[in-house]
Amino acid sequence: DLPRTFLHITPEMVMEAIPERPVDSHKGTFGKLLNISSSLGMTGAAKLSVLGAQRVGTGLVTLAAPRSLISLHAASLTEAVFLPLIENEAGTVARTAAVQLGPKLEQSSACLIGCGLSNNDDTAAVVEFVVKNAKCPLLIDADGINALGRNIDILSEAAGPVVLTPHPAELARLLNVETEDLLAHRVKYGRAFAQKYNLTLVFKGAHTLVFAPDERVFINTTGNNGLAKGGSGDLLAGMIAGLMAQGIPPLQSAMCGVWLHGAAADRCADRLSKTAMLPSDILTDLCGLFR
Ligand code: APR
Ligand code: MG
Repeated sequence: DLPRTFLHITPEMVMEAIPERPVDSHKGTFGKLLNISSSLGMTGAAKLSVLGAQRVGTGLVTLAAPRSLISLHAASLTEAVFLPLIENEAGTVARTAAVQLGPKLEQSSACLIGCGLSNNDDTAAVVEFVVKNAKCPLLIDADGINALGRNIDILSEAAGPVVLTPHPAELARLLNVETEDLLAHRVKYGRAFAQKYNLTLVFKGAHTLVFAPDERVFINTTGNNGLAKGGSGDLLAGMIAGLMAQGIPPLQSAMCGVWLHGAAADRCADRLSKTAMLPSDILTDLCGLFR
């Protein structure tokens, strides 16, 4: 159901949006991302989202994660800083962690929530708190989206601009429709949803569509099926959030993130094959792409 006149995301759009790095810049110039992710059993998702944000040039990334997982994350995420959050018995963020996040949100230029977060009453309460209190641009991915499925109208009370990055099954659950129906009418559903809640929607898939809060729909043609592996989406979420942290407007960040993610994946496939390439390998190809 793609409109004949849909807009393509072009390399020129991306080049224009990526900020210059002035000679006298410092890490504060390139933003502070608060990334609220991770839970026992899904630490890799959080790690990839941190690295994705770092590799698009973000000044400083803070990973806010359940307290007991911090030393594990710190052992490999050398360049990140950490906010150890109060956790529950399941090894996920506890609802009481909201008090820790409030002040940190005030100091951040963008926020990401949801990569490997888990979905339970505690995490849902934290997601609700963040949506209602983040005045900076907020990207909600994965279990953050699943939490919204409990009460989608929380999105009407968002304190700042929101970007959502669902795969088809996540969006189908959120909208309470069948995945088949959703995929047959991507533009109709995507447009209506982005407009209703005044947000940017990244509807992921082989040809990801980016819906602006107005009527516009953009299609991305970079990327390949080497991305069809757990972790690709987490990398993308980190990249888009990292661009937002640097002050690139949410819609542009979404378009640039999606294009860069796919273009780096195409380079990675040339180097390592679609079969064997991993999301973490794509980080290296981002370097070549930016050069
Ligand atoms: N061609 C191009 N791009 C693709 C293709 C393909 N054939 N397949 C996947 N991709 C891209 C998508 O566009 C998206 O950017 O890879 C990414 C996949 O993102 P997700 O589906 O969110 O996958 P990911 O989060 O890495 O792993 C699955 O999501 O549903 C949850 O809990 C589930 O942890 C699991 C996770
Ligand atoms: Mg995902």
